[in-house]
Amino acid sequence: MSVYDEIGGDAAVSLAVESFYDRVMADATLSPYFEGMNLHAIKDHQRDFFTVLLDGPEVYDGRSMRNAHAGLHITDEVFTRTLQHLAATLDELDVTPPLKDQVLRRIEVMRAAIVEVR
Ligand code: HEM
Repeated sequence: MSVYDEIGGDAAVSLAVESFYDRVMADATLSPYFEGMNLHAIKDHQRDFFTVLLDGPEVYDGRSMRNAHAGLHITDEVFTRTLQHLAATLDELDVTPPLKDQVLRRIEVMRAAIVEVR
């Protein structure tokens, strides 16, 4: 069974993206990064991205993580903060600890592509 199926498929991923964004937008350090952006489009892409990341159907056709975040000047601290919101989201959805660790590890490897300011 893929991580995608284990986590609850499309419904769970959609819920996770909604809850994750609510947390990010409620964080005054992170919300300015999304000012003027099309949140709806980002959410759609995020959902597709997580689907592929978790070995679900190959639906993501957005930019590479490096290109999508180029010029945003994301720092290590901002990346870590974002991961913490994702971890809290997975807890909220009762994702089991081993599964949660797997998801977080898969995101952690993108740090180098997303962080521009060290
Ligand atoms: C934690 C790992 C992250 C993942 C997996 C991720 C994933 C994505 C994806 C899939 C997109 C859409 C790409 C596209 O439209 O082609 C995107 C866009 C975006 N992300 Fe992230 N992201 C992450 C971290 C962050 C962080 C830390 C920030 C800043 C706080 C951020 C800010 C943005 C913004 C502003 C956009 C829209 C860029 C634009 O449309 O020009 N992301 N991200």
